[in-house]
Amino acid sequence: MLKTHTCGQLRASDVGSQVTLAGWVHRRRDHGNLVFIDLRDRWGITQVVVNPQESSPAYEAATALRNEFVVRVRGTVRQRPEGLENPKMSTGEIEVVAHEVEILNEAKTPIFYVNEDTEVDEALRLRYRYLDLRRERMQRNMILRHEVVRFIREFLSARDFVEIETPILIKSTPEGARDYVVPSRLHPGCFYALPQSPQQLKQLLMVSGFERYFQIARCFRDEDQRADRQPEFTQLDVEMSFVDRDDVMALTEELFAALVPAVSTKRVLHSPFPRFTYAEAMERYGSDKPDIRFGMTLIDLSAVLRETEFRVFANALAAGGQVKAIVAPGCADYTRRQLDELTEQAKGHGAKGLAWIALRAGETRSSFGKYVSDAEMGAILERTGAQEGDLVLLVADARDAVAETLGQLRLTLGRRLDLLDDDVLGFAWITDFPLLEWDAEEGRYSAVHHPFTAALDEDLPFLETDPGRVRAKAYDIVANGYEVGGGSIRIHRREVQNRMFRAIGLSDEEAQAQFGHLLEAFEFGAPPHGGIAPGIDRLVMLLAGEPNIREVMAFPKSQSAVDLMTQAPSSISERQLRELHIKLDL
Ligand code: AMO
Repeated sequence: MLKTHTCGQLRASDVGSQVTLAGWVHRRRDHGNLVFIDLRDRWGITQVVVNPQESSPAYEAATALRNEFVVRVRGTVRQRPEGLENPKMSTGEIEVVAHEVEILNEAKTPIFYVNEDTEVDEALRLRYRYLDLRRERMQRNMILRHEVVRFIREFLSARDFVEIETPILIKSTPEGARDYVVPSRLHPGCFYALPQSPQQLKQLLMVSGFERYFQIARCFRDEDQRADRQPEFTQLDVEMSFVDRDDVMALTEELFAALVPAVSTKRVLHSPFPRFTYAEAMERYGSDKPDIRFGMTLIDLSAVLRETEFRVFANALAAGGQVKAIVAPGCADYTRRQLDELTEQAKGHGAKGLAWIALRAGETRSSFGKYVSDAEMGAILERTGAQEGDLVLLVADARDAVAETLGQLRLTLGRRLDLLDDDVLGFAWITDFPLLEWDAEEGRYSAVHHPFTAALDEDLPFLETDPGRVRAKAYDIVANGYEVGGGSIRIHRREVQNRMFRAIGLSDEEAQAQFGHLLEAFEFGAPPHGGIAPGIDRLVMLLAGEPNIREVMAFPKSQSAVDLMTQAPSSISERQLRELHIKLDL
């Protein structure tokens, strides 16, 4: 090693030792005839003092140093003079008096400050990601990510799980996004698809008898980017044989409950994790990934307004919709402008409008008071439990629009009212999702999770007669408003899998062409099986308290799926195109 100690290692007990340190110049301060260098490496920062009286060549070298130069320092550890200790630094009791300063490499002036946590344009950070990753926050996030993965590996290995790698060049495994494809040189006109997940392969490993599999698996999905989505991302992919839903959920819960305190200062809000059916989550939170760290749940007023003559409410109810409300505590003083702003937001989420009631000092103001009877107003207030000082927000619309609008307003107001405790992870399970959803564009049903998900036993008979009512043996784990993972018990019998393919509009021939390998495998003794796949990026994002998953990925893509550092995707040479038998039509 070019160093005897790290820059985070030396303590008062090392005083008098001869040491060699190497790292980057974090900061250099010139005090007339003394130069102080904060020398940084992955483990910390050590103060180096260079005094011309100790070593004149060292002093000369030190005066030439600039931020981010790579240097090696040989010297003696000494106690810092009294009063100059820095209790905030782990090495703050000591300093190293340099005998020798050797410049290992120079550095251009960094594009942005590496030694400060200042706001830097993200495009610039991604373009110079190697510099960005030198910053303390990113070092912390990468190390946290490593600890998470290490903890998971040890946890699952101790429970007899086997880590098995599955290929990246495969045939499409659909998860509802577009595939990334790779042209084959050896098979002109043919393409591999990159896995959207290892779903079919892990099921095949169950047919192979491994019983307990996991993989830290890279997945690829060509879909619109969001704060919690990247074109390639990592899952903890898990599959188990001879299990039911509770087994997979119990294992996941045990893992998360142990992981969170082991790697972070966050607290798990409820243990065991609360469970909601999909229908309950939509009713109470207007979302299938509810943030359960605060209340303000949605209250259904449809029953108390059944007879209302107010057209907005009556029309929505007559059309099979709902009238629901949330109560924002202490917001009765909202100005007209604030209410207009919320109304605009509501419209942006698909509602036709927003009705409100403000309860101030014995006076009830409302956007619709004159259209409803006193009895109806009284019933609304009673049902919502609104108190003086509260603002009640109501939406009357189709079920989906009501859920989406009030669900989003709830989050906006929860954040604004500071009801979200950032030190807490509010895990919850969402179960009993619908198996299928109607795809109006395609004119057929499609799988809500993926087409390998089993139906609840009692709902399976309706697969052909009433597909929309069939619920799935699926479960999502959510936390703080994010879907952290999803899984299900799978179909393991060929005839049921065939029925499922037919239900999503695949003919037997199409199913055979796309999924023949899986259907065939099911004829060779496939055990009952099921699993889950938590997203590692989202999990680490939540543990690190970061606002998006790019902050916990070493080399993420931009919002437009570009690698700003290497400039991928990029064109390829004529020769490569010829070899791949590809003609461009741009
Ligand atoms: P699903 O599609 O729900 O299930 O994905 C599981 C988890 O992966 C994460 N995730 C993503 N993370 C970052 N960027 C993305 N584009 C992205 N897409 C998904 C989420 C999500 O909850 N094979 C099934 C799992 C199973 O059934 O076992 C699957 O992939 O955290």
